[in-house]
Amino acid sequence: MAQSLCNEDYWTELAATVSRQASSLHIDSVRHKLADLRQRIEARHPHVDRIEFALYDPGMHTARNVFASQGSVLAPDATSRPLSQWPMFERVARSRHPMVVNDIPGRREAADDPHLALLSVQGFRACLCIPIEQDGRLLGFLLLDSRTAGSFLPDVIDELLLLSHLIGVVVRQELASVEMLVGSLRLARQFAHLRDIETGSHLDRMSSYAHVIAREMAVKAGRGDDFVELLRLFAPLHDIGKVGVPDGILHKPGALTPEEREVMNAHVPLGVEMADRLVRDFDLQGLQSVTLMRNVIAHHHELMDGSGYPGHLTGTQIPLESRIVAIADILDALTCKRSYKRAWTIGEALDEMDSLSGSKLDGDCVAALLACRAEVEDIHQSLHEPA
Ligand SMILES: [Fe+2]
Ligand SMILES: [Fe+2]
Repeated sequence: MAQSLCNEDYWTELAATVSRQASSLHIDSVRHKLADLRQRIEARHPHVDRIEFALYDPGMHTARNVFASQGSVLAPDATSRPLSQWPMFERVARSRHPMVVNDIPGRREAADDPHLALLSVQGFRACLCIPIEQDGRLLGFLLLDSRTAGSFLPDVIDELLLLSHLIGVVVRQELASVEMLVGSLRLARQFAHLRDIETGSHLDRMSSYAHVIAREMAVKAGRGDDFVELLRLFAPLHDIGKVGVPDGILHKPGALTPEEREVMNAHVPLGVEMADRLVRDFDLQGLQSVTLMRNVIAHHHELMDGSGYPGHLTGTQIPLESRIVAIADILDALTCKRSYKRAWTIGEALDEMDSLSGSKLDGDCVAALLACRAEVEDIHQSLHEPA
């Protein structure tokens, strides 16, 4: 997919990824509030032996269990499951009506529904699944499980439905901040579009190179698929601070004076300031994706021997994601024509990467890049900028 800052799909995907992560951060807060409500439910309905809450992701049509009062069928924070694997959730999502099963072992559905089958194995005899909605939007599923068959009679269900509305309000409040974050990312897109700080094809190529290196390095560095995917998404933001650099310097055809160079280099702290403001405004401290985004912005000009800027960091003081983005960015810059130099061929640029390996650039990351030479040449060829 095109990584251009002007591409609507890019920002949609970026916002969806960050909001998925942000929603897990806010889940802790949801959990506390659900625990309070659980006490209220248990006081009035002692036959309710377990309460679970699963968050619904409308984009992926998946559910993820985020709270369970006592053990869980789906472990909290378990990987999201498509609703197609949980027929009861699927039916409730479609009908938007609660579904009650008062005789679990006797139900034929238990054989086809892994959720009911697990409840049965764990000794539960009745369960009630309530859709949690707010303004017509499905937010998740509240599950009440009982070891007593026939627990959920109509009057009990009515009362539990009232409590479920409260849960809807709690979840909705928590998710509101995530929506604000998405809105702010869209705004950033509009700024980037107005300023045209980088060509789209540079960002497409460099993020594809970064993706290749990250993929090769992930296993070696003990990082998961998340790391690879997030780096592909965040690599194009490395120079977002350039929105604060005056046009006269940003687009100057000739070499920059030392004073102009200083202003240009300030794009790094400016970008960091933007990232930090985002973190503050949306209370996102500790979020993996935001840390990764900040590192990409803050350290993409650092070099292994300490000759980079702004921190003159050396070696592994530079986060892995920043070392990868630095290589991807330099590789593409070499193959681009500038007023002071011709465009290098991809072969020449890769040879230069090899010669800088271990001194300026991370040796393992360069080796990962060179191991995928054919793929890198393909990327360069297919995303070549028209002359
Ligand atoms: Fe930069
Ligand atoms: Fe760049």
